[in-house]
Amino acid sequence: MNVNTVALAADHAGFELKNRLAAAVRERGLEPLDLGCHSTDSVDYPDMAALLAEALADGRATRGVLVCGTGIGISIAANRAPHIRCGLCHDVTTARLTREHNDANVLALGARIVGVGVALDCLDAFLDTAYEGGRHARRVDKLARGGG
Ligand code: RB5
Repeated sequence: MNVNTVALAADHAGFELKNRLAAAVRERGLEPLDLGCHSTDSVDYPDMAALLAEALADGRATRGVLVCGTGIGISIAANRAPHIRCGLCHDVTTARLTREHNDANVLALGARIVGVGVALDCLDAFLDTAYEGGRHARRVDKLARGGG
């Protein structure tokens, strides 16, 4: 399991922001695993989310970042995989809380919703914040069991 690797994937709408985030991951001394897309040619966000889910399932990375236009489609797709807890975040507070409360292992961002500065701040909060456990553990355990 590669704990220093952060997997990234995006559709065409998230391509440019994903590249900025990958560079920021590297600047932090972590290893970005860029799963694409690799141009602004149109691709389908469920396919990109599936690539990232596979990377976390097989241990190539322990954390991930997904980007599409709104972040909505790609986060819905990612959360269909039982081992993924993907938080769609719009600011530092949601990025911090999805780690503290949800133990999110994937951050989703909307490139048409948040600016680059906010996205980079969200990445920092996501990577810097620990899961609180405690009262949240019962709820996160229920997610792993598929619901309530
Ligand atoms: C692509 O045009 C767009 O629909 C996609 O990036 C995303 O916003 C879907 O949720």
